[in-house]
Amino acid sequence: MTAADESGTPGALHPRGELVRRQSAWTRVTHWIWAACLFFLLLSGLQIFNAHPSLYIGQESGFEYNNSVLSIRAERRPDGGIAGITTIWGRTFDTTGVLGFSGSEDEPLGRRVRAFPASVTIPSYQDLATGRVVHFFFGWVLVGTMLVWFIASLINGHLRRDIVPLGADIRGLPGDVASHARFRFPRKRAYSPLQKLAYAVVLLVLFPLIVLTGLAMSPGINAAWPWLIDIFGGRQTARTIHFAVMVLLVGFFVLHVVMVLLAGPINTMRSMITGKYRIDAREGGK
Ligand code: HEM
Repeated sequence: MTAADESGTPGALHPRGELVRRQSAWTRVTHWIWAACLFFLLLSGLQIFNAHPSLYIGQESGFEYNNSVLSIRAERRPDGGIAGITTIWGRTFDTTGVLGFSGSEDEPLGRRVRAFPASVTIPSYQDLATGRVVHFFFGWVLVGTMLVWFIASLINGHLRRDIVPLGADIRGLPGDVASHARFRFPRKRAYSPLQKLAYAVVLLVLFPLIVLTGLAMSPGINAAWPWLIDIFGGRQTARTIHFAVMVLLVGFFVLHVVMVLLAGPINTMRSMITGKYRIDAREGGK
């Protein structure tokens, strides 16, 4: 944040305006709970993936089928060394040191054949059972938190007012894209059209999709709701979609944190901790 941001000088980039209430307690508490859940879900999910580090499309998986879309493995090099190899849609990459074969002699686990490295899995060593316990625990906490967010946001109007993009937001999109491209982020009480669109996609598309594909892979849910797995085109496709949504959420997370930093980390973080946000004077409380 520059001095001009909070200066109140006419013509400053962000002339200091009122401190308005932007986020309800429901929004703030649920946001931090799901951010923590996603952290544990990601790391325990990579542990589970490591137990069978390949993804397929369709119902079947195995050597006799040619439906793999991603695989991470280790291969012996002609010189006797080991290489980490990742194949995505038939294209093969040498990912030694990151995917397939990673670690160093100085680490407690040493150099290892494993899909995702020890630094990004919970637990760090190969332990599918613990990974599953952690994953299912945080999965259910995420489901409960999302339900609380959804019901509270329906009742207090947050969903309709701040999340679902309406006609005016769609019309405002090109202007908002241009303003983002010039790194200009006017401080208003309402989210910008791009922000609304991103949050709507995360909250109303990606979260439900990752939960439903997760449920579709559960044997208990398969028995109770066999139609769920059919909607996703089979167990292997559900697993691939689950993984792809995880990648999209990681992409969103990186962009989200960069945007928070660019838009003024003190003001935006204050709004997500205390609820209060300082708008630009010229925005007149909107
Ligand atoms: C994967 C984890 C995360 C996800 C999925 C996520 C998603 C979201 C969503 C959907 C919103 C809008 C919430 C609503 O209005 O109901 C939001 C707001 C916000 N998030 Fe996150 N978030 C994550 C992690 C973080 C982290 C680590 C930070 C801190 C750097 C952060 C800072 C914020 C702030 C400051 C806002 C309010 C933005 C504003 O008022 O302009 N988020 N986040």
